[in-house]
Amino acid sequence: MRTLSKQVANYIEHSSWIRKMFEAGIVLKQQYGQDNVYDFSLGNPDLAPPKAVADGLRHIADQAASPFAFGYMPNAGYLDVRQTLAAHLAREQECPELGPDHIVLTCGAAGGLNALFKAVLEPGDEVICPAPYFVEYGFYVANHGGTLKPVACDSSTFGLDLEGIGAALCEKTRAVLINSPNNPTGQVYSREELDRLATLLKAHTRKVGRPVYLVSDEPYRFLVYDNEVVPPVLPRYTHSVVVGSFSKSLSLAGERVGYVAVNPAMEDVSTLVGGLILTNRILGFVNAPAIGQKLLGRALGQGVDLGVYDKRRSAMAKVLDDARISYVMPKGAFYFFPRVPGGSLDDTGFVNALMKENILAVPGSGFGFPGGFRLAFCVPEDVIVRSGEAFKRAVDAYLG
Ligand SMILES: Cc1ncc(COP(=O)(O)O)c(C=O)c1O
Repeated sequence: MRTLSKQVANYIEHSSWIRKMFEAGIVLKQQYGQDNVYDFSLGNPDLAPPKAVADGLRHIADQAASPFAFGYMPNAGYLDVRQTLAAHLAREQECPELGPDHIVLTCGAAGGLNALFKAVLEPGDEVICPAPYFVEYGFYVANHGGTLKPVACDSSTFGLDLEGIGAALCEKTRAVLINSPNNPTGQVYSREELDRLATLLKAHTRKVGRPVYLVSDEPYRFLVYDNEVVPPVLPRYTHSVVVGSFSKSLSLAGERVGYVAVNPAMEDVSTLVGGLILTNRILGFVNAPAIGQKLLGRALGQGVDLGVYDKRRSAMAKVLDDARISYVMPKGAFYFFPRVPGGSLDDTGFVNALMKENILAVPGSGFGFPGGFRLAFCVPEDVIVRSGEAFKRAVDAYLG
């Protein structure tokens, strides 16, 4: 008897490395104890939400006895929250025209990307994406009849391969999906790279007569180091859309609140926003959670303590240096994407060697980029420091 569709059965069998590592971690922790397992597999922000979230919850509780306190609302989300967010994003994106009518609040960035792809993809359309990439992208695009077309980044910098993207553009291209700061590389695309990408997309749009959307997924925008700046996409390209969330910035990952912001310069902006409002509804999200939205309205602009992540980044860099593992220093987010020692493409082999030392990492193949592996450093600093000797032993064992 077939319980699942072939597609879903296939996804379960072949997809999630992160999930496999998560399950391996539970077994290892039972066997060796919590403190003796170094779990860098999950990008689950471990810092407490800022105080404004707890204060906001108390305020929401005080209002909870009113009728419709948590009732149905416009599918785009509460107007006052969209107004607050629009003012914030107008500054962040250097786009003063951005207003509440250009924003749809969604169930996280994940819900936003699904609503967007549902709204714009025709069957067989392609979405180009630099690799390595957040593995869920492939599912989100396929959910709506499209195909993800990865283009490998330059492996020495993890910058955009603009020639590769240019060569991948074709009549079927509906969108280019970028993520900066990037999961899993921690890199931030520069102004120059974004300008060149915009020029490429403008020329392609002129050639084929159908706009290619530039979708910028930015849930880590708030988390950059050494005063790095994340250049905005909206002023650079008319058919641009920003997707974001508060999962990481306010440590609200379980509360599912994010947004899609459509460039007001797009002539058909209200048609696209109307499409998003509909798809948010008919995908069954209906609207972003009421409590999450209200919290956002009160806590926007606050954030978790970035200094904690910065110290962890330095500690992880030292562990990798000491183990002679090479990497490109992350400029943002909380991930390293180092190279497998010896320059091998055998990332699963090395991740298995790490696992023998109770270190949990995710192979680059899981992000469409064999030869690297991802370490999420949203774990206490002492776990990072204590893992140092285990990394050295794993490298020695792997290189023999
Ligand atoms: C690059 C990237 N995009 C989107 C998401 C989804 O985030 P959200 O919790 O906002 O749906 C994640 C989550 O880890 C991510 O890393």
